[in-house]
Amino acid sequence: MSGAPDIYAQIVHSPPGRVLARQLGLPMPVRLERHRPGAGTVSGPVLVGAAPGGRLLPAIERTLEEIRAPKAAVGAPPKALVFDATGISESRQLLELHRFFHPSVSSLQPSGRVLVTGTRPEGLPPRHATAQRALEGFTRSLGKEIGRGVTVQLVYVAQGCSEQMLDSTVRFLLSPKSAYVSGQVVRISEAVAPVPEQLDWEKPLRGRLALVTGASRGIGRAIAQTLRRDGANLMLLDVPALSAELSRLASALGGQTIELDITEDDAPRRIAERLASGLDIVVHNAGITRDRTLAKMPEDRWSAVVEVNLTAQERINEELLSRGLLAANGRVICVSSMSGIAGNAGQTNYATSKAGVIGMVQALAGELASRQATINAVAPGFIETQMTAKMPFGLREAGRRMNSMAQGGLPVDVAETIAWLANPASSGVNGNVIRVCGQSLLGA
Ligand SMILES: NC(=O)c1ccc[n+]([C@@H]2O[C@H](COP(=O)([O-])OP(=O)(O)OC[C@H]3O[C@@H](n4cnc5c(N)ncnc54)[C@H](O)[C@@H]3O)[C@@H](O)[C@H]2O)c1
Repeated sequence: MSGAPDIYAQIVHSPPGRVLARQLGLPMPVRLERHRPGAGTVSGPVLVGAAPGGRLLPAIERTLEEIRAPKAAVGAPPKALVFDATGISESRQLLELHRFFHPSVSSLQPSGRVLVTGTRPEGLPPRHATAQRALEGFTRSLGKEIGRGVTVQLVYVAQGCSEQMLDSTVRFLLSPKSAYVSGQVVRISEAVAPVPEQLDWEKPLRGRLALVTGASRGIGRAIAQTLRRDGANLMLLDVPALSAELSRLASALGGQTIELDITEDDAPRRIAERLASGLDIVVHNAGITRDRTLAKMPEDRWSAVVEVNLTAQERINEELLSRGLLAANGRVICVSSMSGIAGNAGQTNYATSKAGVIGMVQALAGELASRQATINAVAPGFIETQMTAKMPFGLREAGRRMNSMAQGGLPVDVAETIAWLANPASSGVNGNVIRVCGQSLLGA
């Protein structure tokens, strides 16, 4: 079941509504292009540029060739603009951004893509680091400026890191799969494990086993469907009260089920016993809200949220890792929230738990890398689900409009981001928190 209908978007898409919205200068959410089975990675021509002396252009061009992205002809509106800014080593050279984007940006097609690549500033000499750090301000502002469903991202690749590490990220960020991801900074480092030589990009997760918690509905259900589409075998978990929905989904997707409450004392052990032969991907999606201002919040509402959203993730990770069950090139992917980044009135418990998830990802990234695995989080903004359908009307409307896309995201947008992180070729993406929030104005 999806969220509440977006009546505002329906009105401004009607002919009289469109005229009125234009006259009043109201937000005009466009229909975002999303992935269609069998469609190419990028649905139009790509214009590529680079600052002199950059190092990533050959890798970018190789990926574009592999995905058969057409090159943009002069005068034709491009679908995507890709600029390698790794050659920029001092602030005056930032003018290269203006030179490339100024003439091309207004001709971008709707639901277009902008991608800038840079070098991770940490460890660079001061002027070089300064110029590279400046790229963040550029991409975040451009994302807020263009509109029309265009997304803008910055991808930092560590110096000395194999350029092959860019491949899965360029594919994801240029494709309609990243429809609701914008204004993000992705940090890529050396691979934690070798990338398979021959990857089937249609079914990159074939033969990999994924545990998805909270799978029976909402975002978890979309995660299960998307990982299955990409070839994964599934172990789907939810509370016993939702066993009918969980079993229906598992039989539709050919997966297995675990019915339990992840906060039970013996939950980590029972999960580990069901996965005794190991697994490749853990998606910690189960989560709850119990909103109240802190002054009115009883202790049990605080504890329930922290137990489900944070402590259970920690306990399950510890059990799986201590038993060595996460396979090489494994993935732990946690669902955090924009509330954990920006904070939200009435959600001190929830935001505490979701900020804790980010802390856990950052704290465990090194250990996971030493086990040839990665850990990352996605932080959804306003996603159309039962959880957001329950919000009061005013808050729901504000949540939908206060982002660069002027609309809520769909569960599949979170799921596609998780599928990119789960991809065996994403083994250089570790310790990242990726917001799936249409570039929310909050916490940016
Ligand atoms: N919907 C949004 O806008 C939004 C925004 C930010 C973050 N999130 C996060 O995304 C995740 C999924 O949210 P959703 O909107 O699909 O919510 P939802 O309520 O529709 O689904 C949550 C699922 O988790 C399961 N679950 C809850 N407690 C559990 C427990 N103790 N043991 C096992 N399973 C349990 C539920 O039964 C349910 O199936 C949550 O972690 C949520 O905090 C959602």
